[in-house]
Order: sequence, then C-alpha cells, then structure tokens
Amino acid sequence: MNKMLVGKVTDIDLLGSRTFRVNDTDIALFRLSDGEVLAVENKCPHKGGALSEGMVCGSKVHCPLHDWRIDLHSGAVQEPDTGCVPTFNVEIDPDNGSIYVTI
Ligand code: FES
Repeated sequence: MNKMLVGKVTDIDLLGSRTFRVNDTDIALFRLSDGEVLAVENKCPHKGGALSEGMVCGSKVHCPLHDWRIDLHSGAVQEPDTGCVPTFNVEIDPDNGSIYVTI
C-alpha cells in the first residue's frame, strides 16, 4: 500500500470531482457538500461508466450512464441493483488541505 499526495482540497469544487490514474486504475475523488473527500475507482460496476462525470447527491454518486447509485463511503451499489466499487482511504492534512490517498 502506498500513501500518495494527489492534490489539495481546494482543487475540488463542492459536489465536484477530480480524477487521477495509478498504474492501470482510474480513481475519482469526490468532495461532498460537507467538505468530506472520498475516493473510489472511477468505473461503474454496471457497464464501466465514468463515475466522476456523475451527479453527487448526499454521499452517493449517480452514474451518468444508467443512473445506478453508488455509496461513496462503502462503494456499494444501491438496491435493487447490485455490485460494489473499490474504495480508497483518504486523509487530509488539516494544516494545508493536502489530500493523501492510500492505494
Ligand atoms: S454504467 Fe453505470 S449505471 Fe450503467
């Protein structure tokens, strides 16, 4: 496991996202309305839609392709659909807002 500096909290708009790539994995960072930052693989378990292009609602993202809803804390797909997206641990330095993701 590697802890990587991936940017600053201020780089992500509230309810927005940013992406980065590690090895062959695209990872999406989301900033929720309360400021929390969460990271999941940027690939919907349904047909691979880019979750970073979806709408954030509460702590879920709605896939832009067929509207599956994915919990950004657990990665779980909301029923009645099924599946799960890998999640990654996020730490934020309270002094300077740097975001570290453990991959
Ligand atoms: S690809 Fe995400 S809901 Fe279909």
